[in-house]
Amino acid sequence: MDSQPLPTELVVPHGDTTLVCRLPTLDDITAVVEACQDPDIPRWTTVPSPYGTEQGRGFVEWSLGNWGNRRGFELLITPGDGHPLAELPILGACGGRFDWAGEQASVGYWIHADARRQGVARSALGGLCRWLLDLGFKRIEADVLVGNTGSCRTLESVGFRLEGTRRSLAAGRCGVGADRIDQHTFGLLPGEFVDPAKG
Ligand SMILES: CC(C)(COP(=O)(O)OP(=O)(O)OC[C@H]1O[C@@H](n2cnc3c(N)ncnc32)[C@H](O)[C@@H]1OP(=O)(O)O)[C@@H](O)C(=O)NCCC(=O)NCCS
Repeated sequence: MDSQPLPTELVVPHGDTTLVCRLPTLDDITAVVEACQDPDIPRWTTVPSPYGTEQGRGFVEWSLGNWGNRRGFELLITPGDGHPLAELPILGACGGRFDWAGEQASVGYWIHADARRQGVARSALGGLCRWLLDLGFKRIEADVLVGNTGSCRTLESVGFRLEGTRRSLAAGRCGVGADRIDQHTFGLLPGEFVDPAKG
């Protein structure tokens, strides 16, 4: 499993059109910085705040480096041809980490504030999970801060199950402004996947 080449883009069905989840380039920094000004992104993820060109460049370099050494991935979600949100250069980002020996992966994502509640996260997450399961991963997991109803619902919509809640974790880079956080862990096993591409 761990010798298979990693693609640089995933084309994911989204309604009548597609999303293209692809590796970022340095040309994407401006769009990433613009999207990450939304306070809900650092509030619920490890994306730093404040977020400027330096952070955007770090994101691109981190993503390309990790892809190269196969430790993880961070893809930008962009509109495919004819997509109704084509005026936005990026619709969000999705990514995760690989544990090749344990055949497990973790995932995370954020969606541009102007692209929310239109099924983008569900479709992108679905495409990501389909790809990981096809590669042979036996477990996919995601951590969600307690109170992030939209993310919990997104995970449940493709079959993830709530497995437990860790209490009063040191916040670290997560949940900007908080000292300690409560965090749900969701897990998805292959037979549980609900593929959004199939209706
Ligand atoms: C959470 C987030 C990723 C959802 O993205 P999205 O593209 O709006 O989600 P979708 O439109 O694909 O919706 C997927 C499901 O979640 C539900 N949902 C999405 N946002 C919701 C919200 N704020 N409240 C309640 N339900 C919500 C949708 O109704 C849908 O449920 P359904 O399948 O039962 O209809 C987005 O709000 C976001 O980027 N938030 C800030 C960053 C973040 O929280 N990232 C995740 C960290 S774990």
